[in-house]
Amino acid sequence: MLKVENLKLYYKTLKGYVKAVDDVTFDVRDGEILGLAGESGCGKSTLGNGLVLLKPPLNYFGGNVELDDERLPINDFEKMNEFRFKKLSIIPQYAMDALNPTRKIGTYIKEVLISRGIEPDNIMERLIERLKYVNLSERVLKMYPIELSGGMKQRLVMVISTLLNPSLLIADEVTSALDVSSQKAVCLMIKGFKDDGIVKSLIFITHDLSVLYQIADRIMVMYAGKVAEIGTTQQLIENPLHPYTKMLLNSLPEVGVRHTERLLSGIPGQPPQLLNPPTGCRFKERCPLRGPQCDEEPQKVEAEKDHVAYCWKVKPNA
Ligand SMILES: Nc1ncnc2c1ncn2[C@@H]1O[C@H](COP(=O)(O)OP(=O)(O)OP(=O)(O)O)[C@@H](O)[C@H]1O
Ligand code: SF4
Ligand SMILES: [Mg+2]
Repeated sequence: MLKVENLKLYYKTLKGYVKAVDDVTFDVRDGEILGLAGESGCGKSTLGNGLVLLKPPLNYFGGNVELDDERLPINDFEKMNEFRFKKLSIIPQYAMDALNPTRKIGTYIKEVLISRGIEPDNIMERLIERLKYVNLSERVLKMYPIELSGGMKQRLVMVISTLLNPSLLIADEVTSALDVSSQKAVCLMIKGFKDDGIVKSLIFITHDLSVLYQIADRIMVMYAGKVAEIGTTQQLIENPLHPYTKMLLNSLPEVGVRHTERLLSGIPGQPPQLLNPPTGCRFKERCPLRGPQCDEEPQKVEAEKDHVAYCWKVKPNA
């Protein structure tokens, strides 16, 4: 189980600190896929990267992270070597484009393993088994990345990041660059990794809520570096509480409705700058329900079991 409390991660820039993850609290339970959604720039990748690969210009400004009852030293890059890829692992956004084009895949994997302090020969059997698991032939080891399709590259990256059976896997936009059928295949495999116990739990990051319908047990929506709402997938889709979640859902095309028949509403306005975010609710400039109270920071409201939102207008469970 992953527990994150009041985590603050800011980028240091010449103009000041960009508050990309600002006082974020959530957990990921064993056996579940937590979907992480929100518009571009809301801090999804910063949160994922910060939990595994925190380094400048991203800086830790406070908070507590525990994995399986052990505190993670996320702000100590060296100490994190003990945990990274072994206990928690990440498939970074664009990872499949970062495969070394000049190395055969087998050579590349060996280099990665050695850099992580693992003797490649000790894990070859598992590597080949895992390639089969994701429907890749052993032959890919002798190929160059350019010889693989996008879907094959993504499956390969999934194998490399989970070779050591980490407790938690963070998958950042792993379906975004793929066609619909490859997206489905990757989603099924991600689910399989969890159901077959290769990983205990997952954070699945995507800007595409419709992918999360299919795969997530719970969904966390972020807005401008903050948590807006967390709930089970059903709660969030059927009974969204935060005005931002409602607008995000309204901007999705309905299943079976052609785009030409219904104009997508979109969300008017832009998210705020995270260099100098407004005080109070960060959604206030775009929120139709804004009131005087919204100049104060909204507190967490638990509307029902497992369902929380950070908004003054959401009523707590009576
Ligand atoms: N190296 C950096 N230096 C300064 N600011 C950064 C840096 N990287 C990201 N940011 C800022 O941090 C904020 C969060 O970015 P992040 O990449 O985490 O968003 P995201 O939700 O993953 O977006 P996307 O959906 O486009 O992947 C953005 O405002 C972005 O401009
Ligand atoms: S706190 Fe206020 S501005 Fe923010 S989402 Fe709720 S109603 Fe809108
Ligand atoms: Mg991102």
